[in-house]
Amino acid sequence: MTVKAGFVGCGRMASFHAGALNAIGGAEIVGVYDIDMPKAESFAKKFGAKKVCSSREELLKECGVELLLICDYGHQHAEELHAAMDAGIRSIFCEKPVIRKWEEASALLQKQKETSSLIAVGHVRRVFKPQMKMKEIIDSGILGKIHFCRIQSWNAGFSRQWGNYFASYELSGGAALDMGTHFADLLHWFFGCPEEARGVVTGMENHLAKEEKPSDYFSGTVIYPGGIVCGMDISYQRYGVGKMFMEVYGENATLVCDGSNISVLNKEQETKYTLPAADPHQDQMKCILKMAEEKVQPPCTLKDGIIACGTILSMMNFNANKLDFMKGI
Ligand SMILES: NC(=O)c1ccc[n+]([C@@H]2O[C@H](COP(=O)([O-])OP(=O)(O)OC[C@H]3O[C@@H](n4cnc5c(N)ncnc54)[C@H](O)[C@@H]3O)[C@@H](O)[C@H]2O)c1
Repeated sequence: MTVKAGFVGCGRMASFHAGALNAIGGAEIVGVYDIDMPKAESFAKKFGAKKVCSSREELLKECGVELLLICDYGHQHAEELHAAMDAGIRSIFCEKPVIRKWEEASALLQKQKETSSLIAVGHVRRVFKPQMKMKEIIDSGILGKIHFCRIQSWNAGFSRQWGNYFASYELSGGAALDMGTHFADLLHWFFGCPEEARGVVTGMENHLAKEEKPSDYFSGTVIYPGGIVCGMDISYQRYGVGKMFMEVYGENATLVCDGSNISVLNKEQETKYTLPAADPHQDQMKCILKMAEEKVQPPCTLKDGIIACGTILSMMNFNANKLDFMKGI
């Protein structure tokens, strides 16, 4: 079976997904749309798309799209999902963050239920081999009762330039919503539904209007069932050191993920795990094709994507206790 795929947004992530679909086979790209027409044209040429559409409506209604991949920006995703479901498309992949505001959540879930649509959210880390191994180790129980988890994600790989989408708290939600949701999703997958969250965002913007919040650095804590305390330290930095580090502390052992290396440490020994080579974009698209062909749930569902966003949104809007009581002592 060949799935008829369509793309809204033909940028960087769309290119990863189209390249992955072409590499694994099983899909043909029947149409693409981007507000930047020359970009859509070169994307279509590169990935062999049949048609470049001049509007989203044309793509949704005239190309026979069975699987839509929504790859434009986070503040547009909820509206794009509604339009796709209204147009009768029942298999949809949407990049993260799936919502920008909590108010968008319930109407999306309601429409998904009414239309029986399958919706996958692009939290690709669920198919990363190191994170899959982490999940397996956590579920095995060898760590003993888990007490806390620490995440550091210092993103020096991309230059979040002044004023672009990723630097805008209003649009992308900055490092908190754009990057933090990946980790909120992993923690939800590892430990269950979050029970409490608190956090703070700050940043280095030099151009923002007074009322706009900066968003390059994000620090927060989420509590999961059983009282598991998870600390997050996440940044989008223009200059500096990149790092990805996750630790899970259990009573019997500690699980450490340093980039792509996984090990479990206890009093006596360190066990290092060898992971198979993989292309996560291809692994993700294999799951998305399976969803479209066999009508099975994807690794990260709409509800999962919404829970990840809800966790981070609550941290972004958290009112910290002020330490005024200590003034004047
Ligand atoms: N899953 C991941 O690991 C991951 C990594 C990076 C980015 N992302 C997410 O992917 C999304 C896209 O990011 P990107 O890096 O590909 O950005 P990008 O700027 O490379 O691409 C976005 C594209 O969307 C187009 N666009 C904007 N408005 C549009 C509209 N109304 N209709 C159609 N096209 C429109 C732009 O012209 C651009 O070509 C963001 O939500 C981002 O958070 C996910």
